[in-house]
Amino acid sequence: MSTYRIALMPGDGIGPEVIREAVKIGTTILETLSVSVFFEEFPNGAEHYIKTGETLSDETIEKLRGFDAIFFGAVGDPRIKPGVLEKGILLKLRSSLDLYVNLRPVKLLRGVETPLKGFGPGDIDFVVIRENTEDFYVDMGGRVDAFYPKVFEFTVKTGGAKGSKYRVEVESKDSEAFQIGIISRKGAERIIRFSFEYAFKRGMRKITFVDKANVLTDTYGLWREIVDKVKDEYKDRVESEFMYVDAAALHMVLNPKRFQVIVAPNMFGDILTDLGAAIQGGLGFAPSGNINPEGTSMFEPVHGSAPDKAGRNIANPIASILTFSLMLEHLWSRYGDKRLLEASKIIEKAVENVLADGRFKTIDMGGNTKTNEMGDAILSEAKRLVYSGK
Ligand code: NAD
Ligand code: IPM
Ligand code: MN
Repeated sequence: MSTYRIALMPGDGIGPEVIREAVKIGTTILETLSVSVFFEEFPNGAEHYIKTGETLSDETIEKLRGFDAIFFGAVGDPRIKPGVLEKGILLKLRSSLDLYVNLRPVKLLRGVETPLKGFGPGDIDFVVIRENTEDFYVDMGGRVDAFYPKVFEFTVKTGGAKGSKYRVEVESKDSEAFQIGIISRKGAERIIRFSFEYAFKRGMRKITFVDKANVLTDTYGLWREIVDKVKDEYKDRVESEFMYVDAAALHMVLNPKRFQVIVAPNMFGDILTDLGAAIQGGLGFAPSGNINPEGTSMFEPVHGSAPDKAGRNIANPIASILTFSLMLEHLWSRYGDKRLLEASKIIEKAVENVLADGRFKTIDMGGNTKTNEMGDAILSEAKRLVYSGK
């Protein structure tokens, strides 16, 4: 392949500030390895919405399909009603590009403090694979106000149940609201298979499947049934266990060493990965990839637009820089170009070395290193690694 095409969507708040650092480092390292990359920036986010009333058009989505990957900042703005940008941009991207895998590595790096007493680097190192298109994220719900029957009709727009039709008739005595969660056989099976393959290829021996099958017996009952079916195909290669989500939260805090791969339905995966971010030192360190193994994938830090820190050059860019590295690793696995894996490893190593050195700490780490200074420090370490060939 001659030139890799990457779409940039910096978005809102600290999004553009952290993206800038990652792109600065990524571009330089790829250039030194003679990898040609073309970036195109898309303006979608709060300002664009205020100016045009548009969140993310179908036309833009079609354009995005022509890229090798999308590198995303964050969306969300206090001037705009919660959900408008999050659903209109982020969730729309995940569902229209069918990005059914949300890969969220949780790794405590040397030089970073975890709030967990008695644990250090090496103790916290696992991957959360979050199903990314179904569950309570199917955007099917409604409110009913009183006494008369009301009918809701839905066509599922996302995940393995896409196209299915649901009809809900409610006769209520008071104000009520409901939200539907869907687990489909197709949707569950593809993420479960992906997870076994992922673990197997990386020599990881155990997967913990998280759910709440003791209460949400239908959706997560089906989830368990499919795990039971697929796990037999992997026996002798990868072990698996079930764990209720409440217990998973407990173990992540008390004994994070027991996890290698956690696989969770969408909503529990969302919550557990903020907890994961917390134990790896904070949202400033948590990368993620929204992956469609057969199509264009989208990479973004786990954190949001952090309006409290926006515009002040104080956000930690490391989550975004590690996300860029994750994107390069994914592109390597897709296209087989070894230079991409090399660039990915150099960037990750540079982050590790700068953190271990301990001189640079952003505000979330209790220091006063600015966003761009952290970026510069990682860039010069990455360049040193390239030239010293280490
Ligand atoms: P948030 O992740 O933006 O911030 C939570 C806390 O973590 C804040 O105190 C923030 O200052 C801090 N923080 C986050 N990233 C940081 C970084 N890189 N460096 C230093 N500190 C960092 O979550 P929130 O406050 O719940 O949400 C803010 C907005 O972002 C909302 O509109 C929300 O919907 C949206 N959001 C978007 C995404 C996304 O686009 N991927 C993800 C989560 C939240
Ligand atoms: C995340 C975010 C999103 C989610 C929101 C902003 C829609 O919290 O990426 O974790 O819930 O998936
Ligand atoms: Mn989240």
